[in-house]
Amino acid sequence: RKKVTIQRLFTLRAQSTPITVLTAYDYPTAQRTERHNVDICLVGDSLAQVCLGYPSTTRLTLSEMVHHCKAVARGASSPLLVADMPFGTYPSPEDAVRNAVWLVQEGRMEAVKLEGGVEIVPVVRALTSLGIPTMAHVGLLPQRHTAFSGYRVQGRDANAAYAVLADARALQAAGAFSIVLEAVPHALAGYITAKLDIPTIGIGAGPACSGQVLVCDDALGTWSGHKAKFVRRFAQVGAHADQGVAEYVKAVRDRSFPSIPQETYEIPEDEWNKFL
Ligand code: KIV
Ligand code: NA
Repeated sequence: RKKVTIQRLFTLRAQSTPITVLTAYDYPTAQRTERHNVDICLVGDSLAQVCLGYPSTTRLTLSEMVHHCKAVARGASSPLLVADMPFGTYPSPEDAVRNAVWLVQEGRMEAVKLEGGVEIVPVVRALTSLGIPTMAHVGLLPQRHTAFSGYRVQGRDANAAYAVLADARALQAAGAFSIVLEAVPHALAGYITAKLDIPTIGIGAGPACSGQVLVCDDALGTWSGHKAKFVRRFAQVGAHADQGVAEYVKAVRDRSFPSIPQETYEIPEDEWNKFL
């Protein structure tokens, strides 16, 4: 399968072919993105909640992120590999570059994603000018949930909508190769997509974006946490897995597992008699 490049993403956008993005935090999920020709495999910092059990993404450290990036890179090579820069790892251009280089060299990622608007333009400029492809992320910014008193839809009044557009424009000018629009009204996402020259990737941003992203565990129903309005469950893996665990526990307790001879090994009878 052909490697997905940034140029390829621009071609997909030009052809109005939706770009597919899915998160992965481990080797088997990464392999699945590879098998199904997902365009971008995102090691999102959502791994904090759905994989590591933290209450929010702000707890995730860079070394934890790198550990998961390495596993994903072992499982997927054709999708473009993008990692979220964890909360607090891009306070200045210098820190951002040092930490992004760690994600590239140690984590084997090809691009990084950062949350924020005009205030992170110097950071995005520093990264992109040094050849570290950078994806922007505007609208709902989970890393700032404490400052914003929760997770809410952004850009719902004219001033807020204008601010999201201004952020997107500034980030494109700073060199971002793509931008995630999270939880913004679909009309605004469509407007921004039409105004920009770089692909937009929507999550809770409607169908007019250049592509879509979902958290893998949301899409597959592997966890029982909060389900946002924009999530569609494409599988019920969690329910299936729970049933499997329940049946295993029951089978061990009632001694129906393991069975002889299907799930056991034999010793030849003469050898057994010698042993005895
Ligand atoms: O952390 C994440 O998974 C993300 C995507 C949902 C955009 O940022
Ligand atoms: Na994220």
